[in-house]
Amino acid sequence: MIANNQNPFIAGNWKMFKTIPEAVELVKALKEKSPEFNDAELVVIPPFTALSEVKKVIEGSTIKLGAQNLFWEEQGAFTGEVSAPMLKDAGCQYVTIGHSERRQYFDETDETVNKKIRAALAYELYPIMCLGESLEEREKGKTIDKVESQINSGLEGLGSEEISKIIIAYEPIWAIGTGLTATPAQAEEVHSFIREKLVEKYGKKTASCAIILYGGSAKPDNTYSLLKENNINGALVGGASLKADSFVQIAKEAIKAYKEKK
Ligand code: PGA
Repeated sequence: MIANNQNPFIAGNWKMFKTIPEAVELVKALKEKSPEFNDAELVVIPPFTALSEVKKVIEGSTIKLGAQNLFWEEQGAFTGEVSAPMLKDAGCQYVTIGHSERRQYFDETDETVNKKIRAALAYELYPIMCLGESLEEREKGKTIDKVESQINSGLEGLGSEEISKIIIAYEPIWAIGTGLTATPAQAEEVHSFIREKLVEKYGKKTASCAIILYGGSAKPDNTYSLLKENNINGALVGGASLKADSFVQIAKEAIKAYKEKK
């Protein structure tokens, strides 16, 4: 069963960084510090090549493993792709789907996001579905429309049982890797909209347990104020997850904010 949102959920998306030795070094450092983040669900998301070795290191710790993408077919002649059962085999529990970089550079659409979510769920991988608006959409006042349509299409045909296994990451594209962060109020506006949308579609019980993450230049010094907001349950961290110290500091700030809002 998936962790509910009783503890903050902090996931580190390493993107296309870290060779195998570098990945092992980073995750060993995280493991050493794991008593400091007992009260958070901490997930590392390395590139495919490092998954198995990272899995060996986190064995026996509370750190969980995720992958950055999958293809929806189970196996076959799909050169260059990796399937859900392969990720499961490598020890993954989570998989990010529809990251804006995948949408932007690899033509992923809400339809492929939906197929990938279904494939993940079929193999008991928890999808972390990413969505969010561009700067242009925000400036034109289209943020909520964009998020709404991504939710409607990305989750099409899924029921509340399935939704309870999906994590949603709101990542405004203009904040990813730019050093610009949404203010807590800007993020909370979208997060509360997402939760209301989940209430409307899947009922209060499913919506109130849903894990909704913020992503986009999350750092030790902005995590606390973001996580203090009612509907922000954690962070999907890119750049600041590449060093053990900053990633652990983010987890600690998240735990502090969470304890205070309980
Ligand atoms: P960032 O990346 O923290 O480097 O902005 C976040 C993400 O892309 O998930």
